[in-house]
Amino acid sequence: MASVEFRSVTKSFGSFTAVDHVDLSIGDGEFVCLLGPSGCGKTTSLRMIAGLETPSSGQILIGGDDVTGLHPKDRQISMVFQDYALYPHMNIADNIAYPLKVRGESQEKRHARAQEVAGVLKIGDLLSRLPSQISGGQQQRTSLARALVYPSRVYLFDEPLSNLDAKLRLEARGFLNHLQRDMGMTAIYVTHDQAEAMALATRIAVMDRGRIVQYAPPIEIYRRPATTFVANFVGNPPMNLVPVTARAEGDSVRLSADGVTLAPLPLSAGLKAALAAGPTLTLGVRPEHLSVTEEADNSIGGKLFANENMGPESLVTMERPDASRVTARIFTDDHVEVGETVRFGFAPEHVTLFDGAGTRIPRDGEAGL
Ligand SMILES: Nc1ncnc2c1ncn2[C@@H]1O[C@H](COP(=O)(O)OP(=O)(O)O)[C@@H](O)[C@H]1O
Ligand SMILES: [Mg+2]
Repeated sequence: MASVEFRSVTKSFGSFTAVDHVDLSIGDGEFVCLLGPSGCGKTTSLRMIAGLETPSSGQILIGGDDVTGLHPKDRQISMVFQDYALYPHMNIADNIAYPLKVRGESQEKRHARAQEVAGVLKIGDLLSRLPSQISGGQQQRTSLARALVYPSRVYLFDEPLSNLDAKLRLEARGFLNHLQRDMGMTAIYVTHDQAEAMALATRIAVMDRGRIVQYAPPIEIYRRPATTFVANFVGNPPMNLVPVTARAEGDSVRLSADGVTLAPLPLSAGLKAALAAGPTLTLGVRPEHLSVTEEADNSIGGKLFANENMGPESLVTMERPDASRVTARIFTDDHVEVGETVRFGFAPEHVTLFDGAGTRIPRDGEAGL
């Protein structure tokens, strides 16, 4: 296994910059997810590690060695593609053993190793079939087996679960999680599915338009999103974001917006800096930190727009006076009716504030202030 490093890597296609000055350091044995919307540069980044794409500028290091100009086959990496990329005319055993064949291993050794890996992935009884004769989930495991059959320094995954149905996807995700903990492999895993990234990653790199906007462990990304973009991308449903106007009054700050009441907050150094740039801020609060309340203090008011029963919990969404929506995750027993006037209350410590540019305002005492 080995570490991977991006040093100011840029990739342009003509005048379009797909990956823009990315710096990224992935430790030996880490499972890093590149998370972001379609088109943000995830696959291009992965293909540059594999050597299938050459950076326009910058360096890529594997295990401390500059591999920027190195041929893919000399990098000792394995890649699992979104569409599995199995050879249709080869049976499952030959598909799995293919990387060994390329490297000139004997038929006997190839067979033994394919059988071993297939056993681990529970496809050992399918070895003589063709890809067209097995299910999507089994094809996915075949492509995973092919990636694992030969020891690699780094394993690359490009949305490997996206073609599976919901149930199989969860099962495969659990399996990958187990495998990584078990093998301690260095893995870089591309996904646009935030739940997948949260479940698998030791660290998540959130990408937006070719740049990394935050790189941190999943819980840190969830609790302290660096920007409104991250806050809105991570979590299902995502963090509620409400524009507010801030006014300093002595040592405190009063936030106001239609239907929102919030007790004055202490004027922290972070808030002071944000207010110097302008009075418009964004108040963020996660659905699970909202509850239906009668209290006016620290709450958001509106009219109930939707009530989605999820079993023990329900997602209830209000429409605010400006037609924007706020969603709360509540116990289904806390009954509310669509059309009713409601208030969602929150504890002030669960509020995240973002400045006019959408950057999170740190709280007093946090590192960096
Ligand atoms: N070979 C290429 N030529 C031109 N544009 C490309 C090429 N590959 C990718 N792009 C563009 O670069 C951007 C990032 O693509 P990609 O890395 O595939 O995004 P993601 O995997 O995050 O969806 C997209 O706008 C895509 O259209
Ligand atoms: Mg992609």
